[in-house]
Amino acid sequence: MRRLRLAALLGVLLLLLPLAAAAGAAAKAPAAPPAPPNVTTAMAKGGCKAFADLIASSPDAASTYQSAVGGGVTVFCPTDDAVRAFMPRYRNLTAEGKAEVLLFHAVPVYYSRGSLKSNNGVMNTLATDGAAKNYNFTVQNEGDAVTIKTAASQDVARVKSTVLDADPVAIFTVDSVIEPVELFKPAPAPSPAPAADAPKAASKAAHHPAPVVADAPGPAATDSPPADQKKEANKSAAAGAPSCVRWFAATVAAAVVMASTLA
Ligand SMILES: *[C@@H]1O[C@H](CO)[C@@H](O)[C@H](O)[C@H]1NC(C)=O
Ligand SMILES: *[C@@H]1O[C@H](CO)[C@@H](O)[C@H](O)[C@H]1NC(C)=O
Ligand SMILES: *[C@@H]1O[C@H](CO)[C@@H](O)[C@H](O)[C@H]1NC(C)=O
Ligand SMILES: *[C@@H]1O[C@H](CO)[C@@H](O)[C@H](O)[C@H]1NC(C)=O
Repeated sequence: MRRLRLAALLGVLLLLLPLAAAAGAAAKAPAAPPAPPNVTTAMAKGGCKAFADLIASSPDAASTYQSAVGGGVTVFCPTDDAVRAFMPRYRNLTAEGKAEVLLFHAVPVYYSRGSLKSNNGVMNTLATDGAAKNYNFTVQNEGDAVTIKTAASQDVARVKSTVLDADPVAIFTVDSVIEPVELFKPAPAPSPAPAADAPKAASKAAHHPAPVVADAPGPAATDSPPADQKKEANKSAAAGAPSCVRWFAATVAAAVVMASTLA
C-alpha cells in the first residue's frame, strides 16, 4: 500500500518535472538581453557583402568583430565597389595585414549617426594595439558629409548610408577602403630615384680619371712646374673622359720641355 502511494507520487513528480522546466525557461527568456546582432550578416544585407565575406574568411577579424559587439562598436564598411577596387592591394597583404585592415574599419565605441558629427577627431580602431600599432584615423565633417582620413592618402572615405544604428551597434557604409598609414605608406616624394642613381654616376665618373691621376705624376713630376701640374690634375679629375686627351697633351708638353732642356 505504502509502496504504491510512493510510486504514484514519483510518477506525478516525473510528469511535472518537464512542465516546471519549461515554465522556468519561459520565465527566464524575457529577462535575457536580446541577442547581439550578427554584424557580418547585417553588413552583407546593407551593401557590404564583399567586406563581410573578407571578415568571415579571416578568423582573427571575425572573432574580434563579434566580441566587440557587446561593448559597443561603430563599423564603417566599404561598399562592394570600394572593396573590388582595393582587392589587388588587399591580396598583397600578409594574413596579419589583412586582419588589421579589416579591424581598422571599426571603432570600439557606439556612435549614432548624429553623435558621429559632433564626436569627430582622431579615433582608435579595433586594430589599435598600444602605442606600437596606432591604427587610428581622423573623422571630420565636410559640409553635410562625415569623412574619414588617414596620413596614407590624400583621399578621404565618405560615410554614406546607415546599415544599422541601434545602441550598442552602428554600421555605416563608406565609399572607399580606409588605408592605415601603418600598412600603406604615403606616396614618397620623387627624390629617392635620382638619389639612387647619383652615387652610381659619381662613382663611374670618379673611376675613370683615377688611373689618369695615378699615372700623371710619373712622367711629369720631375720637371713640370708644380702649379701647372696641380691645375692639370684638378682639371682631369673634374672633366672626366676628355682628361685622357689633356693628360696626353700635358705629357707631350712636358716631354718637349725636357727635350729642350737637354738640348
Ligand atoms: C554570423 O553569420 C555568419 C553567416 O551567417 C556566420 O557564419 C557566423 O558564424 C555568425 N556569427 C555569429 C557570431 O553568430
Ligand atoms: C604588391 O607587392 C609588390 C612587392 O612589394 C609590389 O611590387 C606590387 O606593386 C604590389 N602590388 C600591388 C597591386 O600593390
Ligand atoms: C595616430 O597614429 C599616428 C601614427 O600612425 C601617431 O603618430 C599619432 O600619435 C596617433 N594619434 C593619436 C591621437 O593616438
Ligand atoms: C679643383 O677643383 C675644385 C672644384 O672642382 C676646386 O674647389 C678646387 O679649388 C680646385 N683645386 C685646384 C688646386 O685648382
